[in-house]
Amino acid sequence: MAKRSIRDLALKGRRVFVRVDFNVPLKNGVIGDDTRIRASLPTIQYALDAGAACVILASHLGRPKGKPNPDMSLKPVAARLAELLGRPVSFADDCIGSAAENAVRSAPDSGVVLLDNLRFHAEEEKNDAGFARALAALADVYVNDAFGAAHRAHASVEALVKLIPEAGAGLLMEKELRYLGEAVSSPARPFVAVLGGAKVSDKIEVIENLIPRVDRLLIGGAMAYTFFKATGKPVGKSLVEEDKLDAARDIVTRADQRRLELLLPVDHVVAAKIEAGVPVQTIGVDDGAIGDRMGLDIGPATVSAFARALSDAKTVVWNGPMGVFEIDAFAQGTIGVARAVADVKGTTIVGGGDSIAAVAKAGVADRITHISTGGGASLEFLGGRVLPGVAALPDE
Ligand code: 3PG
Repeated sequence: MAKRSIRDLALKGRRVFVRVDFNVPLKNGVIGDDTRIRASLPTIQYALDAGAACVILASHLGRPKGKPNPDMSLKPVAARLAELLGRPVSFADDCIGSAAENAVRSAPDSGVVLLDNLRFHAEEEKNDAGFARALAALADVYVNDAFGAAHRAHASVEALVKLIPEAGAGLLMEKELRYLGEAVSSPARPFVAVLGGAKVSDKIEVIENLIPRVDRLLIGGAMAYTFFKATGKPVGKSLVEEDKLDAARDIVTRADQRRLELLLPVDHVVAAKIEAGVPVQTIGVDDGAIGDRMGLDIGPATVSAFARALSDAKTVVWNGPMGVFEIDAFAQGTIGVARAVADVKGTTIVGGGDSIAAVAKAGVADRITHISTGGGASLEFLGGRVLPGVAALPDE
């Protein structure tokens, strides 16, 4: 069901509360990656262009466990946002109460106010109605642009929505729902999913939801070793989830029944430990020469097979790296897959922090159709779950 959009709301002369996901990597006050801030600029600019009296931005950052923590303050984000917007951004030391109210009241016409971390109040994560009322008192209109936080039933994305009748999805939220929604419900075919990362357990729901939908499923990364162990291949000391062997066998059987092409690695790069500079060897996945070493990347024959499986795709969803790509010796598989995804002449969607870093490392980020700002949220969406922050928004 399509959600009401910011474009359907009356913003002129009104105080517009925008829930954003500014949960950016932050160390000693320095922002490591401002992608999420940039991604919300169109919505902020839209509200300003539409004549909003004030745009009030609220976000969480990190997991401060319900108490103020200066290391997780959004203050550095206010400075970066002001640079990106090219206009001043007032910062409120607290997201509710007099600090927030004064910041909104004293903002100039068409001013932008960023409230400090919502999670400095334990009530945010408890979806508390009183806390939501304190947020609601600040604004006339509610916009949710925080796709990355939409899988959390927290006060600023759920309880608050019921308190402000004039509510809708921001432009980033809409874009995320459009791309991910189309991939899940009406993909152009062939539809190929590429899944990697360490654990099968993180991806089981996604795999189960995608099996009836995709034409090909490509599995790489450490999670392939649970499949290998389940099918009797030598895995050495590779990461295996012993309690997921049955789940892996079940996935293989279901893929078979659906006549789905399930591709697992055919070769891999093995080493005694996860460390730069250690001796590495590329061998076939059936080769017992792995001994007590671990598989840490897919090999070149697998990259070629995956690239062939991607070559005629019209829709691709990729989540999770193919190896320990932070170390150059184990990065070639992930970089090769990133290039193959970028070469696809269709819609390509990449989600999850690691895969996003991988497309950046491969230098192909600008050739991906949609890079999702959601990690857990995009996985839950692809796993077929209803996201509370989306469900709470009024339908069109
Ligand atoms: C994310 O980074 O995935 C979102 O901002 C949600 O953060 P959380 O996992 O701490 O709720």
